[in-house]
Amino acid sequence: MWPARCRFDVHADDAAFVKMLEADVRRGLSAWPRSIPPKYFYDEIGARLFERITELPEYYLTRVEASLLSRVAGEVAQRTAPDEIVELGPGSCRKVRWLFDALRSPAGVRYVPIDFGRDGLRDAVSGLTRDYGWLHVHGVIGDFERDLVHVPAPIGRRLALFLGSTIGNFEPAARAALLGEIGRLLGADGRLLLGVDLVKERSILEPAYDDAAGVTAAFNRNILAVVNRALDADFRLDAYRHHAFYDDAASRVEMHLLATAPQRVHLPKLDMVLDLHEGDGIWTESSYKFTRASTEAMLADGGLALDAWYTDEHDHFGLALARPAASP
Ligand SMILES: C[S@@+](CC[C@H](N)C(=O)[O-])C[C@H]1O[C@@H](n2cnc3c(N)ncnc32)[C@H](O)[C@@H]1O
Repeated sequence: MWPARCRFDVHADDAAFVKMLEADVRRGLSAWPRSIPPKYFYDEIGARLFERITELPEYYLTRVEASLLSRVAGEVAQRTAPDEIVELGPGSCRKVRWLFDALRSPAGVRYVPIDFGRDGLRDAVSGLTRDYGWLHVHGVIGDFERDLVHVPAPIGRRLALFLGSTIGNFEPAARAALLGEIGRLLGADGRLLLGVDLVKERSILEPAYDDAAGVTAAFNRNILAVVNRALDADFRLDAYRHHAFYDDAASRVEMHLLATAPQRVHLPKLDMVLDLHEGDGIWTESSYKFTRASTEAMLADGGLALDAWYTDEHDHFGLALARPAASP
């Protein structure tokens, strides 16, 4: 039973999810190079594997961002004085706690998380309402690429959070469009706190996406299980090798699944048969890396401007506080 100060709107039910996946997988597997969008990693198993990734010694991103956030949360809370925190893709909702803890007058503050990890979001929110008795929640279960229009009207000054370097999974045109949508959510006096992973040595970047314990490999292969289940397809997970590398020129880590032997894959719901040769790949994720300058350029493309820039002592991760470019 949910407390009265907590509600959820569901905009991505199972049927809508499968329809969207069908269209994306058809497009991605018919194109060259073949691809499946990374947003399909996060079924229940994928979300659990991602949580394990965040604890791996090689995966510095979560550790560094969390420690940076814990250091700057007080300043961000003071500068933004939010009545409402809207978070895109919060996952376990762990990071927002640093901001809740830093709020000077939290009474009446509303939290609006939007994620399509249905049960995961409900579980995470139930932990928040237990620990923050003052918190009001209006959760949106949906796709932040399509459903930001369903975010409820603002109740006051807004702070949007988009953490975990998730913006790095988007190609430049798509991220400009998404940042533009986020800008519209902010209103004139709102702010966005954006987590960006920074350009650094290959020797740090590549192991973060190819850990010794093989958890990232399992996470990558799990996307095929998601497709199998939704589309009655017959990808054999053990017939693909995880491949991750840093492309310096493009400033991105790429993750692929490479067929270890010739494969014929049936996707009956798409009326599609896929023939893969040994070594053929499916591109599952790009993770763009930024500098302060490229973050400012990305924000400008989305109609936003940098207000404050925070990094850790090694310049491994950045938090950009941004405002709509038109506002003072
Ligand atoms: C990399 S995890 C990051 C989680 C958390 N923000 C963090 O920093 O640890 C990405 C999260 O975004 C969610 N997500 C990814 N694409 C999404 C989309 N298009 N719409 C809604 N949620 C999405 C996933 O379900 C997952 O919880």
